[in-house]
Amino acid sequence: MKHFLSINDCSTKDLNALLDLSASLKKLYKSGKRDLCLAGKVLAMLFEKPSLRTRISFHVAMTDLGGSAIYVKPEDIGGIGKREPIKDMARVLSRYVDGIMARTFEHRVVVELAQFATVPVINALTDWSHPCQAMADVLTIKEHLSRLKGVKVAYVGDGNNVARSLAFAAAKLAMKLVVASPKGYELDKETIKTANRISADSVSQVNEPKKAVDGADIIYTDTWTSMGQEDEKKKRIKAFKDFQVNAKLVKLAGSNVKIMHCLPAYRGLEITDEVVESKNSIILDQSENRLHFQRALLKKLLS
Ligand code: CP
Ligand code: NVA
Repeated sequence: MKHFLSINDCSTKDLNALLDLSASLKKLYKSGKRDLCLAGKVLAMLFEKPSLRTRISFHVAMTDLGGSAIYVKPEDIGGIGKREPIKDMARVLSRYVDGIMARTFEHRVVVELAQFATVPVINALTDWSHPCQAMADVLTIKEHLSRLKGVKVAYVGDGNNVARSLAFAAAKLAMKLVVASPKGYELDKETIKTANRISADSVSQVNEPKKAVDGADIIYTDTWTSMGQEDEKKKRIKAFKDFQVNAKLVKLAGSNVKIMHCLPAYRGLEITDEVVESKNSIILDQSENRLHFQRALLKKLLS
């Protein structure tokens, strides 16, 4: 594993090793000890979009491991691929830093960075995928259910970057993902085909939230309007109106179901405040685990 761009590029063995390392580093840090394996190392963090969790948790993870991080906004450097070609940026940065993480609109930007960088490149969310999120999610599921095999995740909402990374995670780690989306907003057929080629029947798509949550261990949702789609917000609110994760829908899955959301959450749209704050919600554990997973990822790629 040189880069971390998409979960479907990784082997099940590597993913499980990352989960184990996340758990052991989490335990170590909770006990007040530290692992300074990245002393003197620097991570460049390029962000074309806003971020709370990803930015801060990566920065803290680098600091925790003895290294440091530099936050770069596109306007500071004249845009990614605008002031100079991506290949020059990737090669120059590789002479200064030990790793590059990037949050971009187009997925091909992180792919091109990785193609030309001689240091590891990490996908911190693109329009196509959000692999760090999905791995933190899986870590959270494992902690709460003590297993991954056969866990049924019902993803209710947009077939977006988060749903796609969850699909690859389900396929690689023996979970079942059922995505419920309105017509026209489903997970693309190619992703479903790829996931099911990795592991037969791991991912399916329906248009009925009720169908998806039946027998689910987890109900997961994300915003209906991702970063960059703000112009479509009105249209999307209309299209997704029957796809809200609310108490009525949660009840259909039974009292033990866990609720997940990658955050930020738009209460009253994709999820109600009541459900976010309910005892079934493991949303804050999920956010916390971004830090624990990313510590492991940075240690694996940069040390
Ligand atoms: N979940 C997530 O990636 O949050 P941020 O956009 O705040 O980084
Ligand atoms: N799908 C959302 C995830 C935010 C963490 C987006 O891309 O905006």
